[in-house]
Amino acid sequence: MVVRISNLRKRFDKNEVLRGVSIEVPDGKVIGLIGSSGAGKSTLLRCTNFLEPPDSGTLEFDGNVVDTTHASKQQVQELRRQTAMVFQNFNLYKLNTATENIELALTHAKHYAPKKAHETSLEFLNKVGLHAKRNSFPDQLSGGQQQRVALARAAVLRPKLMLLDEPTSALDPENIGEVLKVIKNLADEGQSMLIASHEMNFLRRICDHVVFMDQGVVKEEGSADQIFNHPKEDRTRQFLSGVTPQEEA
Ligand SMILES: Nc1ncnc2c1ncn2[C@@H]1O[C@H](COP(=O)(O)OP(=O)(O)OP(=O)(O)O)[C@@H](O)[C@H]1O
Ligand SMILES: [Mg+2]
Repeated sequence: MVVRISNLRKRFDKNEVLRGVSIEVPDGKVIGLIGSSGAGKSTLLRCTNFLEPPDSGTLEFDGNVVDTTHASKQQVQELRRQTAMVFQNFNLYKLNTATENIELALTHAKHYAPKKAHETSLEFLNKVGLHAKRNSFPDQLSGGQQQRVALARAAVLRPKLMLLDEPTSALDPENIGEVLKVIKNLADEGQSMLIASHEMNFLRRICDHVVFMDQGVVKEEGSADQIFNHPKEDRTRQFLSGVTPQEEA
């Protein structure tokens, strides 16, 4: 099984943000998405689950190909069922406890009965090391703990692909490690993921494959070692060295 994003295009008015992006996520692999601010990473993640409808291109999950230009309501619903997104700012339901946040995902998206939702929710809180915090509300948790609940809430749906947008960028350095460990455990269990991040050290440790995006296209891709240690393209080297190219006039 493979998730295939092919030739995806998206423009906002005159701004062509995705200019034919293709990315493959083999089953159980973790793909890192890097690139300057504005390169289109978040837009690509949002287009993959139709949070933002792409203009054109195809999305393939498990052999089912969806032409995004002519996607039916049913196909969009199905794509959303096959993905789960984790955001920079956690986006937990503030008025619900950690357990309830996960239960709600299960009762809404998977139509679990309450008892099964409760049991499964506790199992996943345990998995992310937060069983002791099961009755805490989001504002009683640290950023790292909130993100671990968000990861449990996404993973519990057993999506074909988890989409993570800057999952550690709102965290203190000491909280990043615990979130990284949870992501790594999920990856080791075979959860496929597409992760946009500016944290190169973090990506280096968890990615099977890294994609460098530049101005709406895939500029270079390869193993983490290849991209981070032996980039081929000048632009990739420039980006990794932290030098921003001159804006074109
Ligand atoms: N809803 C929107 N309406 C208009 N323009 C948008 C919208 N969303 C994104 N853009 C534009 O698309 C471009 C790419 O944005 P995107 O958020 O995908 O970049 P990014 O690679 O995720 O950047 P960052 O690293 O800062 O998160 C930017 O020029 C942005 O202004
Ligand atoms: Mg972004």
